[in-house]
Amino acid sequence: MPKDSKTNNQAGTERSCPILHQHAHEIQPYGKIAKLPIALDEATCAQSVENLNQVLADTITLRDMYKKHHWQVAGHTFYQIHLLFDKHYEEQNELVDTIAERIQSLGGISLAMAHDVAETTIIPRPPRGREEVPVQISRLLEAHEFVLKEARTMAKQAVDSGDDGTNDLLVSDVIRTNELQVWFLAEHLVDVPLVRADAPTSEKDTKSKSASAR
Ligand SMILES: [Fe+2]
Repeated sequence: MPKDSKTNNQAGTERSCPILHQHAHEIQPYGKIAKLPIALDEATCAQSVENLNQVLADTITLRDMYKKHHWQVAGHTFYQIHLLFDKHYEEQNELVDTIAERIQSLGGISLAMAHDVAETTIIPRPPRGREEVPVQISRLLEAHEFVLKEARTMAKQAVDSGDDGTNDLLVSDVIRTNELQVWFLAEHLVDVPLVRADAPTSEKDTKSKSASAR
């Protein structure tokens, strides 16, 4: 076989071969605004982008905590909780995309990678191991409250700066979704009897007296 057979075999395919291992400078550094014609000044966009990236990092963390608990849940309520956690995961995943695309439409850059999210989130890190359902739910409720607290503050800032789109996203999507999920979770931590009603003390006394009189 001639020495240059490989080269000869590739002859004529130059335009259809992928060009691999390409590198170049970023087209926009993180933290800078690429001004778009949306009738908002750059300072307003920068403020909203910074706020939304914080909510984004915390929403990604909360979303992933739901998946962790979806996989690791244990106990006699396994099926119900397993499904509920995944439903909330999907809803948080929708929020992640909505927030990230709002950031991009303000001319900013959305956080995306796990390393950057881990450095930014204010939600406390859970252990890698499995935990009981009440602990899982408590962690999720705590995370929801972090998101709700910052979203309320940021929604007010967005109104004050005239960024109605960001205000609407924070109120209509982030706050409403999180509040509803908090309700669904918190009701699981109400300690009510599963089968036998917890009768009032006076009724219990009457029953025990009539039982001992027999
Ligand atoms: Fe699953």
